[in-house]
Amino acid sequence: MNLSGIDAAAWAELEVSATGSQSGFRYVNLCSVDAFGRPQARMVVLRRADGARRLMEIHTDIRSAKWQEICAKPAVTILGFSEQSRLQLRFQGSAELHGPGSELANEAWDRLSPWTRSTYSGGPPGENVGEISPTGETNGDAEGRAFFGVLIFQAETMDWFQLRQAENRRAVFRYDDRGVPADARWINP
Ligand SMILES: Cc1cc2nc3c(=O)[nH]c(=O)nc-3n(C[C@H](O)[C@H](O)[C@H](O)COP(=O)(O)O)c2cc1C
Repeated sequence: MNLSGIDAAAWAELEVSATGSQSGFRYVNLCSVDAFGRPQARMVVLRRADGARRLMEIHTDIRSAKWQEICAKPAVTILGFSEQSRLQLRFQGSAELHGPGSELANEAWDRLSPWTRSTYSGGPPGENVGEISPTGETNGDAEGRAFFGVLIFQAETMDWFQLRQAENRRAVFRYDDRGVPADARWINP
């Protein structure tokens, strides 16, 4: 496969991954930098990928550390590994945050299941739960809307690494600010 085919196949796999829990890139690592310059990483669900525009969508609680970090420094990395295709994909790019009340957050919220909505209505992420151990109880799904945010990631580069038995392969792709391919080349793994 040539480089443009590899680029298209990687984004097609991301698009499929966003639709089901069994797919390779359903869970990815979202990495940001905190106020002290320390790298921070956490798993997130890939909610949507748009291969034509090289975008990814992630949902989170606006009270979380990541939201504050990314507000201050929108440069983020997304890292994933698919066991099925033996592919590591590492993206660098920038995140746009759409908070409660924005059109994107409203639309995404309306599509969420009641269970997913309810995960936004507990206490602030990262805060102590006190003496009582967590029960999983929340205050229903209505009030979570006020804490629900959508992160849209615009990829600037993709570092594609394929694990193979004989010889690993690696390529890098660069996109312009609308996600159009600007450069692609093979590099040593
Ligand atoms: C498999 C998996 C999927 C997760 N998906 C999300 C997600 O989509 N959004 C999210 O905010 N947190 C998600 N989490 C929780 C985060 O990894 C993290 O613990 C939490 O968001 C707090 O991160 P922060 O303090 O860095 O903001 C997920 C955790 C796991 C294990």
